[in-house]
Amino acid sequence: MTRTSESVTPQLHDYLVAHSAPVDPVLADLAEETARRYPDQTTMQIGAEQGTFMTLLARIGGARDVVEVGTFTGYSAICMARGIPADGSLLALDVSEEWTALARRYWQRAGVADKIELRLAPALETLRALPGDRRFDLAFIDADKEGYIGYWEELVPRMRPGGVLLVDNTLSHGRVIDPAETSAPVQGIRDFNDHALADERVEPVLLPVGDGLTMARVRG
Ligand SMILES: C[S@@+](CC[C@H](N)C(=O)[O-])C[C@H]1O[C@@H](n2cnc3c(N)ncnc32)[C@H](O)[C@@H]1O
Repeated sequence: MTRTSESVTPQLHDYLVAHSAPVDPVLADLAEETARRYPDQTTMQIGAEQGTFMTLLARIGGARDVVEVGTFTGYSAICMARGIPADGSLLALDVSEEWTALARRYWQRAGVADKIELRLAPALETLRALPGDRRFDLAFIDADKEGYIGYWEELVPRMRPGGVLLVDNTLSHGRVIDPAETSAPVQGIRDFNDHALADERVEPVLLPVGDGLTMARVRG
């Protein structure tokens, strides 16, 4: 029998968050203010344990140059920025002036604003316009799902050997395996998952973290 991952009930989720490195007041306040101001958008923000995991991953991997596609109110950017050194950089891409205004405020509070450069424009345009020699150690894709393959194709060649791409929401809340589900975002995720699996430049794993987190190491 194939062993499966544990189903995480809300109670078990509370327990695992309580037994991970504590979420500091800045992130807790950001999560609270995001939920209060944008109650219909709270599921866009990554969860506490995923954020802690991303901080550790950046730190363990010695990442210096990071790119994020889809910033929202800045939670995941804080987590990754905390895992890189003081002279590291995080390029944050989004289209929303309003949501990222909140992000900027919390980046100041978290003491990571100096590491983060925010560009407001469709992310594919920004990525295509980057200098040819711009390279990254860690990338996080978390924007419009129909765009994932396009972001991936721009980013994989820009990753340093051994670099890691993280891609969020790759289980679409379980809808990826529902044949009745034909929405464009879910189909975008299915297409992306097949695309990443067939890509011989990377070693991927789809983890049951949050709403599905694909982690792919770029071959050396
Ligand atoms: C799921 S949210 C990102 C959440 C964020 N990573 C966090 O953990 O808080 C998706 C973001 O992608 C942005 N977005 C959507 N389409 C985009 C595009 N074409 N280019 C850049 N950003 C885009 C949205 O404005 C939104 O802020």
